[in-house]
Amino acid sequence: MKVFVCAVLSSLLCLVALRKMWSSRYLRSNLSRTLYTNMMSHSQLLCWEGNQQWYLCDKEKLSEVLRPIFIQSYLDQGTQTFLNRSIEKSGWLSIQLYHSFMSSLFSMFMSRTSINGLLGRGSMFVFSPEQFQRLLKIGPEWKSHRLLDLGAGDGEVTKVMSPHFEEIYVTEMSQTMIWQLLKKKYRVLNIDEWQNTGFQYDVISCLNLLDRCHQPVTLLKEMRSVLEPTRGRVILALVLPFHPYVENGGKWEKPSEIMAVSGTFWEEQVNSLADVFHEAGFVVEALTRLPYLCEGDMYNDYYVLDDAVFVLRPV
Ligand SMILES: C[S@@+](CC[C@H](N)C(=O)[O-])C[C@H]1O[C@@H](n2cnc3c(N)ncnc32)[C@H](O)[C@@H]1O
Ligand SMILES: *[C@@H]1O[C@H](CO)[C@@H](O)[C@H](O)[C@H]1NC(C)=O
Ligand SMILES: *[C@@H]1O[C@H](CO)[C@@H](O)[C@H](O)[C@H]1NC(C)=O
Repeated sequence: MKVFVCAVLSSLLCLVALRKMWSSRYLRSNLSRTLYTNMMSHSQLLCWEGNQQWYLCDKEKLSEVLRPIFIQSYLDQGTQTFLNRSIEKSGWLSIQLYHSFMSSLFSMFMSRTSINGLLGRGSMFVFSPEQFQRLLKIGPEWKSHRLLDLGAGDGEVTKVMSPHFEEIYVTEMSQTMIWQLLKKKYRVLNIDEWQNTGFQYDVISCLNLLDRCHQPVTLLKEMRSVLEPTRGRVILALVLPFHPYVENGGKWEKPSEIMAVSGTFWEEQVNSLADVFHEAGFVVEALTRLPYLCEGDMYNDYYVLDDAVFVLRPV
């Protein structure tokens, strides 16, 4: 019995040591280390200050056009359910050790996104169904024809929007995420295919993608060209402060197109983004501040980033 306990304990220690080794190797790149530490300290800071801080905005700092259309969100039941589930999952030691070990192994040659896709972990949360409906000013029964979710990840966020649509199209860069999306029965389009299908989409969602793709400016213009020109809406989320970088294999790269976001504070960057959207042929119809939540691991219950979520209407 003693031998068994010792064996289990020492293999646990080995796994943790391995994990430490790989993560410092993984974090050797300056950019990714900065981002990783940002994310960690962010989540701890916000926990101490209380969760309602996630939603606060200094409306005085918003431009005159944006001030009246800012929607105040709060921690609702859907968000709390995600947090509870995430806290519960991060407490499952054996699963977390398995994930930790597998991702250490795969991080030698795969991107973080693809590893999460492969292991089916690290699901994200942007908005609850109620928050989505409030942003688009629709009721729970509202139905439309086509949704296009660009950079859909594992499709967990798509699932919140999908009850409102007859046909759901998605795009993804990562092959393992595409497997997750196919499993959920979404219609996967190639990243150079959705622009020329001849369809018009009633809603296009572009959630946390503009800072993770090579051509954000082109992407905005392409969205404009396939959006239904009168009733069509874009729902767009972006992590602020704006730190664009693109994941390629296990490496981070600078994007090839620069999106001109200025200012330092959340509100200042939001003001400047309204101009970027205008250049691409959109006006902001509604806007809110939400935490972008990610399921945790053995070190944290969950991770939090700061999202600005916009509803855009074509001009
Ligand atoms: C931060 S995740 C966002 C996932 C999900 N939309 C969310 O909000 O949680 C960004 C995703 O975009 C994908 N991606 C990157 N460039 C892309 C592109 N050009 N077209 C489609 N997806 C892309 C990545 O593989 C990644 O899964
Ligand atoms: C890493 O980046 C920071 C700024 O982001 C810079 O001050 C520092 O010199 C960089 N370190 C290395 C080793 O490149
Ligand atoms: C979340 O967990 C807390 C504490 O365990 C509990 O009081 C609350 O009712 C749970 N909320 C939801 C929506 O599951």
